[in-house]
Amino acid sequence: MAQSLPDLAGLREALRAATSVVALTGAGISAESGVPTFRGAGGLWRNYSAQQLATPEAFARDPRLVWEWYDWRRSVIHRAQPNAGHRALAELERRIVAARGRFTLVTQNVDGLHQRAGSRNVLKLHGDIWVVRCSDCGLAECNEEVPLKQLPPHCSCGGILRPGVVWFGEGLPAKAWERASEASVRAQIVMVVGTSAAVYPAAGLAELGRGAGAKLAIINPEPTPLDVLADWVLNAKAGEILSGIL
Ligand code: OAD
Repeated sequence: MAQSLPDLAGLREALRAATSVVALTGAGISAESGVPTFRGAGGLWRNYSAQQLATPEAFARDPRLVWEWYDWRRSVIHRAQPNAGHRALAELERRIVAARGRFTLVTQNVDGLHQRAGSRNVLKLHGDIWVVRCSDCGLAECNEEVPLKQLPPHCSCGGILRPGVVWFGEGLPAKAWERASEASVRAQIVMVVGTSAAVYPAAGLAELGRGAGAKLAIINPEPTPLDVLADWVLNAKAGEILSGIL
């Protein structure tokens, strides 16, 4: 189903007037950069097992296997460039901030493409694939080596380093979650872009914002469970819709 033009124009008008906006993004916003999504056609979880690759138990069992998968994803992301959708959100932030408003980008993505596109106020709910963390001493540092020389990589303390991402069964970074919740509650508009809204608590931010009075916009070529709550449902690619909004 194509988006209706009044929806796009309505969202554009509402954004022009808004002084507090949250964008919640997922893997779909990076799809146009060539980074695979997790669910849906071509999604990673169709061919790979989340249980065997993205849980603390999987890492304890076979750190090398988990790292092989993350090393491959790092190489895909390393080759990728931010797309029109990432750039449009960075531009939207600049405009809202220039008008003394607040813009918070909450992302479930670990790829860093929002920051590379120029977004400033980014809350990373699921961590960062370019950070490694020691499973023994807890030291966290940026590591952009592609491919990694050693699998699994080791810390100077001798411990095994893990990807600095949030796995299934783990809690979200407390500070990022707190700031994302606060921003959602005070938002006038929450835009939900390129996420299946299947993973909680991240998807709950849209409901939190809506419950506190925000208008909700969904940008996704496919239907999502949040559509029933939305004021605008724009069924097309993020790059197309977001550049159209600007
Ligand atoms: P999903 O893979 O679940 O969903 C991607 C969404 O993007 C789908 O709803 C697609 O329809 C949509 N999509 C595809 N192409 C698009 C495009 N060009 N423009 C806009 N939307 C598009 O990804 P997430 O919702 O981000 O967590 O998944 C949430 C979490 O589940 C991830 O952070 C990851 C995953 O398992 C962990 O690994 C812990």
